[in-house]
Amino acid sequence: MALFAFLVFLVPWFQPRNDVLETPPPLLTGEANKNNGDNPVTSNINLFTSIQLGPYTLPNRMAMSPMTRLRAIDNVPNSLMATYYAQRVTAGLIVTEATMVSPLSLGYINCPGIYSTEQVDGWRRVTDAVHEKGGRIFLQLWHSGRISHSSLLDGQLPVAPSALAAPGELHTPIGKVAMETPRALETHEIPEIVEQFRKGAENAHAAGFDGVELHGAFGYIIDQFLQDCTNKRTDEYGGSIENRTRFLLEVVQAVTSVWGTNRVGIKLSPSNTFYGMGDSNPQETFGYAINALNRFGLAYLHLQEPNEIDLASRDVMNPVTPYYRKIYKGTLITNGGYNHAKGDSILKNGDADLVSFGQLFLANPDLPKRFELDASLNEPDPKTFYGAGEKGYTDYPFLAVQATTS
Ligand SMILES: Cc1cc2nc3c(=O)[nH]c(=O)nc-3n(C[C@H](O)[C@H](O)[C@H](O)COP(=O)(O)O)c2cc1C
Repeated sequence: MALFAFLVFLVPWFQPRNDVLETPPPLLTGEANKNNGDNPVTSNINLFTSIQLGPYTLPNRMAMSPMTRLRAIDNVPNSLMATYYAQRVTAGLIVTEATMVSPLSLGYINCPGIYSTEQVDGWRRVTDAVHEKGGRIFLQLWHSGRISHSSLLDGQLPVAPSALAAPGELHTPIGKVAMETPRALETHEIPEIVEQFRKGAENAHAAGFDGVELHGAFGYIIDQFLQDCTNKRTDEYGGSIENRTRFLLEVVQAVTSVWGTNRVGIKLSPSNTFYGMGDSNPQETFGYAINALNRFGLAYLHLQEPNEIDLASRDVMNPVTPYYRKIYKGTLITNGGYNHAKGDSILKNGDADLVSFGQLFLANPDLPKRFELDASLNEPDPKTFYGAGEKGYTDYPFLAVQATTS
């Protein structure tokens, strides 16, 4: 089934909450902010046109989208994961699977973390393997919020903006169980979660990553604060759009304090309906948040288009990217259902700067080569998406291997 953990850092990292909104960092000027949606048609650009992303010159515009694969036994990255990511090194940019910033941010068995020395050392194997082959890799920082269960959290309740259970079930050590009603965070606890993201960013730096992506999509904690179906708070983190965006901006502020602004990206999914997500006015909510992100000069904004389930669930914005292209002034990565032709097309008309591929990269480690040669593609096998060891992970064939064995 498509399923897409408590260490509290008592470091006194706390800012008066309004600082984030009132004194944003200056906008960077550089390649990363050249594409603002007002550009004329960019007819020569395709997936194979190189691009400057923050300080990095990417050889192509094909990013590997973050994908949870649940191969991190006991939440520690391992050499099998290093092999998997290194196999996909020809992506212009690799973004790792969602990686928990604290034990209480765990959503799934065997998802990796970035809060212990062992985990940092494990990720170092991954980044070394990718760098040895000349690639670039960002870590996706993640807190699952309400998408968890006390049986995954040593008996503690998951935490979230509000005490509202997500619909659906979760695989846990005690079997498949209904999602639990989380405990609503006390206002004074929220800076501790922000600090966990900051510490995760610091650990990602120690592990040798080239940057980090914040997981603001798919109904996890950042999204839970942002959208009003999951945020019923009455303090300064709930109610108005400004208040609901506060957590996201505080996390961005914290993470950019480690990395600088142009090696941090964020993924958002305005039309996602999975995990019961929705907002009474998504256009306005995400428009406000995305406009607020303009102040930072981030490496990129990563936007997810709706999938078939989203489109069948209710009337969601489709497509998402061209609309927010007009609002976001920096580099934009679009994602969701792209193939070679669709990817080239959106780059050509200037509605995005890069395209990320999920399932296609999962099944085709040499995806750029296959696109270049117009070669056939391996089919992804959903049965092995999660936790199946090498099978369906590191054994998808490369083109050259296929050619010599057929
Ligand atoms: C097995 C699997 C795991 C995923 N895990 C994550 C994740 O950890 N973080 C995330 O932001 N998106 C995750 N996604 C969503 C993908 O990044 C991507 O948005 C989605 O697959 C649509 O892109 P595609 O049509 O190119 O596959 C996952 C998708 C798949 C198939």
